[in-house]
Amino acid sequence: MAERVKVLFSEKEVDARIRQMGEQISSDYKGKKLHLICVLKGGSFFMCELAKYITVPVTIDFMSVSSYGGDTKSSGIVKIIKDLDESIKDKDVLVIEDIVDSGRTLNYLFELLKQRGPKSLTLCTLLDKPDGRTVGVQVDYTGFEIPDKFVVGYGLDYHQLYRNLPYIGTVELD
Ligand code: IMP
Ligand code: MG
Repeated sequence: MAERVKVLFSEKEVDARIRQMGEQISSDYKGKKLHLICVLKGGSFFMCELAKYITVPVTIDFMSVSSYGGDTKSSGIVKIIKDLDESIKDKDVLVIEDIVDSGRTLNYLFELLKQRGPKSLTLCTLLDKPDGRTVGVQVDYTGFEIPDKFVVGYGLDYHQLYRNLPYIGTVELD
């Protein structure tokens, strides 16, 4: 099936918003060190940009989880593909995600990370689709709230494609 991508947030809009988020996070964590956990693969582009705008000392780690499901919806069955390299015990941890939709992936991940004894645990997502929510998740920092449409770019994929788009677009199926 052919698809087209329609710009939802331009590169300029995304960059401006990420800068604001970085400033907000820097002010909230003033005097502390921040441990960023990037949820692969989608969160990687966002984390790299965001981290440049954070002025408190930052360390980073990566985790890869997969939610099995159909094409565009997660099933709630989450599997760890790659675990963290370092302990998060007693650290101020900020999880970086590309998008929260049903909330299932993050809900699972947060329960798991809480058991490892971080000093604090918060969530930052580039995009939030509140209409898709089926499980409660507390989102501490949101880039943009979007309607229940499938989006790509800035790390987000459709069949593994389009992650490298420097903007966020909706996928229109012909
Ligand atoms: P959740 O478990 O339903 O919240 O789904 C979260 C995961 O589903 C995200 O981390 C994405 O990998 C994927 N996802 C949800 N909505 C979209 C979308 O619009 N575009 C691309 N991936 C999406
Ligand atoms: Mg993701």
